[in-house]
Amino acid sequence: MSKTIIVSNRLPVKITENDGEYMLSPSEGGLATGLGSIYKQNDNIWIGWPGLEITEDDKKEKIIRQLKQQSLLPVFLSQEEISEYYEGFSNDVLWPVFHYYASTYANYKQSNWDFYQKVNEKFKDAVLKTAKPGDTIWVHDYQLMLLPALIREEQPDLAIGFFLHIPFPSYEMFRLIPWRAELIHGVLGADLIGFHTFDDVRHFLNAATRILPVTSSANIISDGERSIVVESFPMGIDEKKYASLPNDPQVKKDIKLIQDTFKNIKLVVTIDRLDYSKGILQRLQAFEHLLEQYPQYKEKIALYMVVVPSRDTVPQYAQLRDQIDKRVGSINAVYRTMDWTPIHYYYRSLPIEMLSALYYTADICLVTPMRDGMNLVSKEYVASRINNDGVLILSEMAGASKELIDALIVNPNNTVEVADTIIRAINMPLDEQQRRMQQMRQMVSKFNISHWVKIFMDKLKEVIQFQRSMQTRYIGSATQQSIINRYAKTNKRIIFLDYDGTLVDFKSNIEQASPDEELYRILIQLTEDPANHVVLISGRRHENLAEWFGDHRIDLVAEHGAWFKKQKTSWHKLPGLSAQWKHDILPILETYVDRTPGTFIEKKSYSLVWHYRKAQKGLGELRAGELMNNLKYLANDKGLQLLPGDKVVEIKNMEINKGKAALTLIDNNNYDFIMALGDDYTDEDIFKALPEGAVTIKIGSSLSAAKFYLRTPGEARRLLKNLTENSAVDKLIND
Ligand code: UDP
Ligand code: G6P
Repeated sequence: MSKTIIVSNRLPVKITENDGEYMLSPSEGGLATGLGSIYKQNDNIWIGWPGLEITEDDKKEKIIRQLKQQSLLPVFLSQEEISEYYEGFSNDVLWPVFHYYASTYANYKQSNWDFYQKVNEKFKDAVLKTAKPGDTIWVHDYQLMLLPALIREEQPDLAIGFFLHIPFPSYEMFRLIPWRAELIHGVLGADLIGFHTFDDVRHFLNAATRILPVTSSANIISDGERSIVVESFPMGIDEKKYASLPNDPQVKKDIKLIQDTFKNIKLVVTIDRLDYSKGILQRLQAFEHLLEQYPQYKEKIALYMVVVPSRDTVPQYAQLRDQIDKRVGSINAVYRTMDWTPIHYYYRSLPIEMLSALYYTADICLVTPMRDGMNLVSKEYVASRINNDGVLILSEMAGASKELIDALIVNPNNTVEVADTIIRAINMPLDEQQRRMQQMRQMVSKFNISHWVKIFMDKLKEVIQFQRSMQTRYIGSATQQSIINRYAKTNKRIIFLDYDGTLVDFKSNIEQASPDEELYRILIQLTEDPANHVVLISGRRHENLAEWFGDHRIDLVAEHGAWFKKQKTSWHKLPGLSAQWKHDILPILETYVDRTPGTFIEKKSYSLVWHYRKAQKGLGELRAGELMNNLKYLANDKGLQLLPGDKVVEIKNMEINKGKAALTLIDNNNYDFIMALGDDYTDEDIFKALPEGAVTIKIGSSLSAAKFYLRTPGEARRLLKNLTENSAVDKLIND
């Protein structure tokens, strides 16, 4: 039976030592709490660090046995690995950069990076020890960004998913990391890459295509022949658990206790791990501002603040803890009265029952991170509001704000706005609270953690199936041989060849892509066989094709089918075409050339092409989109078609179409072998138009109507060569 192996730095349970005895307790943080509640439902294994340095072998064995009962497999880390890989690289480089704190906190130390690589290798060994063919590996979070590629190198056929639980920063931030290329390469080992939000997806696609020689089309990255899908999957929580906890006897007791303590007081709850990204100090500042600006709320409001200890061996975290202690102390010292304390501050981890009781009793939940991948606390609060009352105040910098749009959304840097929003929440009428909360509860209930796992896993299966179908479409030696056999048995053949991107690589200067000696030799060999009718069918200008191939025994179709030239005859054009429209379109294209350095217009008889291969990366694509939008209606009016191609936008008469042109040439000729090679989507028209038995071949591995594909023009040339050379040998043997 195949299984899923979940891999994350931290296991969902951690080991703590008490008087020489090892105890297991739940880990903190969204990854562990979210996935931890459901991973056991299937036949899964979870590999990760148990959170403590263990040196003795007998103790390690005992722990391994204990964890095995919960389908957990530990990776033990030495003290040096903990401080260099975990505290150093993960939490002193990746965490600050990904949360936009690069300039304040990031520390790029070579030894940290060395250990990051070593520990990722260690995780790879642990995975490969357990993984069997057919298993799915699901790697989680920034501590293990190199792992997907490390696994892929040794086991290329395993299905690998990767999910990042923290924000992926903009390229401008990410590029600061000295080892940015290695990190992206590591993640691209996965088949499916998931993020919480669409912004993260955009940032990742941008960084990947700028840093590595990979390309992307929509949300698919092409890395050589591999296609990697990048998507957003907003993580959910175990909604049913939080909705049912308020009926648990222990939770009921805790609720009563809290209600008795905070009688007639509006309770504002905040729960975070100790982290500068959570905006705890800024929140305290907002609360202090509220006490100053709205003195009438003194003794009527209290902030219940839970900070869960986290990473306090990393200096910035220890420092933050001191700052929070001081700030809370000073606010309480100034505003406390005999019977009222403004801030109830707890620096500890809470049992889930107490957590649930707090969510249930809090009038307001205040979640104001400066940056947060998702933030599950906000969703847990919503799920716990089974009476549909209560107000969630949520930072727009948390991933959750994209889904929980009925929360009161705030900018956490604006302390005045945060204070005012707390006042607004206190005074919000019950019917408005209910209207907002009901909407949010529906959202949290539908997009729960099981849904999240399901849609990620379903997508991963789909990606793998797509990749397998691509593998069977690739012309390997067996497929090539069967094409050659068919070719050898036939006597009347037609072969359609596109030019740019099919027979020659793209060049930044279109004039440079002239045919070389080898290409002429291949074409001559093909045309020497009287059974072959070779057609060069291109988007190029007819003058251009005539100059290069006019003297050969090749039929030429130029400008996508506007011009035809049979061998040894002169050019004729498709009847009824008009070029009047160019007067209106050309000036528009010129404005794009004026605004976008590196771009130019190619003028053909019946089409205009705007080229942006040499424009600044990103700007060309932006302008192309703008241009297409701009011309949309005008093109329709004038019977024109807009073709976005490889770094070009072409505007041509609707009637011109390579597919139609190809059919005209086949017309009643009884060919017994039809073949077409092409690389871009004007060639798709040929692939679709040709009869069922035709051998259609796309150059490049993206989606296509073609039956087969080859990776490069070099491979296309080899196939054409083998067709003539090997089939001649076959013939000799057969004769
Ligand atoms: N949490 C916890 N122990 C506590 C308080 C909270 O484990 O004492 C949980 C909380 O219920 C939530 C998680 O820690 O599920 C925090 O996840 P979130 O996504 O909000 O932030 P992260 O810590 O992942 O940055
Ligand atoms: C965030 C991260 C997790 C991490 C958790 C707790 O949720 O995304 O990967 O496990 O914080 O941090 P810690 O450093 O204690 O594992």
